[in-house]
Amino acid sequence: MPTDPVRIDVTTPSRRYTISLGDGLLDRLTRLLDESGAPRRRFVVSSPLVWRFHGQRFAAAADAEAIIVPDGERFKQLPTVSRVYDALIRANADRASTLITFGGGVIGDLAGFAAASYLRGIALVHVPTTLLAQVDSAIGGKVGVNHAPGKNLIGAFYQPYTVVIDPSVLGTLPRREFRAGLYEVIKYGMTSSPTLFERIGAERKAIFARDPQILSSVIAESCRIKAAVVDADEKEAGLRRILNFGHTAGHAIEAVTKYRRFRHGEAVAYGMLVAAELAVARGALAAHDRQALADLIALLGPLPPISDVPIGQLMEAMRHDKKMVAGRLHFVLPTAIGATAIVDDVTEKEMTKALAHVGFMKSRAPSTSPAVS
Ligand SMILES: NC(=O)c1ccc[n+]([C@@H]2O[C@H](COP(=O)([O-])OP(=O)(O)OC[C@H]3O[C@@H](n4cnc5c(N)ncnc54)[C@H](O)[C@@H]3O)[C@@H](O)[C@H]2O)c1
Ligand SMILES: [Zn+2]
Repeated sequence: MPTDPVRIDVTTPSRRYTISLGDGLLDRLTRLLDESGAPRRRFVVSSPLVWRFHGQRFAAAADAEAIIVPDGERFKQLPTVSRVYDALIRANADRASTLITFGGGVIGDLAGFAAASYLRGIALVHVPTTLLAQVDSAIGGKVGVNHAPGKNLIGAFYQPYTVVIDPSVLGTLPRREFRAGLYEVIKYGMTSSPTLFERIGAERKAIFARDPQILSSVIAESCRIKAAVVDADEKEAGLRRILNFGHTAGHAIEAVTKYRRFRHGEAVAYGMLVAAELAVARGALAAHDRQALADLIALLGPLPPISDVPIGQLMEAMRHDKKMVAGRLHFVLPTAIGATAIVDDVTEKEMTKALAHVGFMKSRAPSTSPAVS
């Protein structure tokens, strides 16, 4: 039995729109697109894999011209965006066109950027197909691509007309990708909701079995948290920074291992452990809360090993992170399950110690570089 759809409103200064979430909603796509006011000439950008699994169902539900481009982090770059432009131009897409993204975060970000920039912007709709995209990347309006030497260096804030989330497409998602998305759900629990945090552990069997009801409500809660933060701070001037919890060390871990060893969520899982370790050392977080986080992460399954990832390289990567504002690192410190504080006085010594405690590889010679703060 399909569950009742949930509707979550997002109200940003640049656009108001609705996230619709429910098992089987993909089959009602045309009605949802029409309700959102998305222009009738529609294009769908997807990847070969997602289209193979779910393209038929999509095509039966909505009339849209398909543009298939490769996904995966190494294709999240301007040449792939260019392929989308080429297809739009060949089809004479005009400003009264809608671009629907149908895939994971990579397709959403890169095709979203194509929509933001083609003819100075055409209507955008996200239909996310990974757990990470459903709870995170499809909400909030960040679109963009990677550019040597860094991730997400080219991009825009561009809100969609609507977001349609159908958890039933997650049935084909590999378990590792599924878990990678769950770490971002843990992040929401840690920053904003002790209840959500508890639920992940308590209901993990049903979550992993992708029970439609349980999964829908966990995704809905995550979307509500992200939507509320984005409502308050569309362009990440303040509150939205809490969503970077675990991402300072997380991004460094991804960069140092060249985006090959870890899924983004896995690196964030380690990043959260590092932040918690640092918070405990400062007396800002109780040791039992840090332990609860470590236990929950461990409960979901093994993470890739880190004992050969050098702390010196992680520190170097953090110095280049985009989250530096005027030379200061804004660091999200957990203060309890469901609460954080943003600080900008984290020293290199504290960070090094926290990384060592979590199990990263100690550098041979002490670093002589200046403090990160
Ligand atoms: N815009 C934002 O606010 C934001 C937030 C978080 C992450 N991101 C970005 O999201 C990207 C990561 O997204 P992701 O984790 O979804 O990775 P992804 O898009 O690479 O998808 C992961 C893999 O799953 C496959 N896949 C997608 N849907 C599937 C399905 N239903 N069944 C089977 N396979 C499926 C894809 O083909 C791909 O191989 C990163 O580039 C990151 O920077 C953006
Ligand atoms: Zn993330």
